Amino acid sequence: MKPRVFSAMQPTSDSLQLGNYLGALVQWVKLQDTHEAIYSVVDLHALTVTPEPETLRRRTRVTAAQYLAAGVDPERSLVFVQSHVPEHAELAWLLSTYTGMGEAGRMTQFKDKSAKVGEAGTNVGLFTYPILMAADILLYDTDLVPVGEDQRQHLELSRDLAERLNTRLGEGSVVVPDAHIVKAVAKIYDLQEPTKKMSKTATSPKGTIEILQDPKQVAKNIKSAATDSDSVIAFDREAKPGISNLLTIYSALDGRSVEQLVADYEGKMYGHLKVDLADVVVEYLTPIRDNAMEWIESPERLDSVLEEGAAKARGIAGQTLARLYDRVGLVPAAGRR
Ligand code: AMP
Ligand code: TRP
Repeated sequence: MKPRVFSAMQPTSDSLQLGNYLGALVQWVKLQDTHEAIYSVVDLHALTVTPEPETLRRRTRVTAAQYLAAGVDPERSLVFVQSHVPEHAELAWLLSTYTGMGEAGRMTQFKDKSAKVGEAGTNVGLFTYPILMAADILLYDTDLVPVGEDQRQHLELSRDLAERLNTRLGEGSVVVPDAHIVKAVAKIYDLQEPTKKMSKTATSPKGTIEILQDPKQVAKNIKSAATDSDSVIAFDREAKPGISNLLTIYSALDGRSVEQLVADYEGKMYGHLKVDLADVVVEYLTPIRDNAMEWIESPERLDSVLEEGAAKARGIAGQTLARLYDRVGLVPAAGRR
């Protein structure tokens, strides 16, 4: 049997951005060759930012469409919407009783997000968010979780919880998952503020490259990316974050190493590199964008992929939950062994 991979994204925008794509999706697609893959659109997680109902519904489908357009193959992998598999919320509750307050309180993403919205705007779901994420992962006896650098701490919590369950409830309760974080692309930075990560919810839209964006706008954003004033094309994350980020993106899409690119652009200006990179990015994203549009324009076809994915996911999740409910001492319900 192949080892299993699980990963997910939140439907919090009308388009994924290049960081989601390079940091995560590219790995998801690759891992299908060697792993049994399960990928989810985590709509319950997205509720923590209280979206408008219609917006959430639209973004959930649009996010799934982009997985498929990027090369997640529904013939080989499961693609489903988190809320279609109720075991996620159920296991999250169980795991919350194994999570210390202090442990949950140390999550830096919670601290950042709650600081941004203030105490009055912070809901408890934002606090317990990483526990739901652990439930997503542990339900499927996941071996490997491909994510970007920003998820490292959440993955550590999932591992700690898995080990705790195995200690308290007996070996074989759950599989302890490993993070799969590809260093070179684990953090793609904002084009305007290259010390901040590129994000779906960035302050300035000029700083992001969106998968579904109009190619002209993509090119414009790349050409107006912030770079330093010394105009030497070299990779130095600390001293030259802007050009280093562009080199990272260029290398990931074009296949040439960063060293090779630096050599090829020796003596040239930032402008040259930006013009070429804009072409590379547009050419790369155009077929993905077209393919995503096809999925978006045939919602029945998309929904049927998601329906089949959810049915199969429930088969696996139900068994894991039943095993854990039994081990913690819950009396089995009729129809649930
Ligand atoms: P999110 O948009 O927070 O749901 O993230 C979905 C996936 O994309 C996660 O695995 C993130 O770690 C990854 N990701 C998000 N932003 C970036 C970025 N700027 N660079 C690399 N990976 C990212
Ligand atoms: N928290 C992740 C993010 O914001 C999304 C996520 C939810 C996830 N559940 C997951 C990622 C399980 C990997 C595995 O990016």
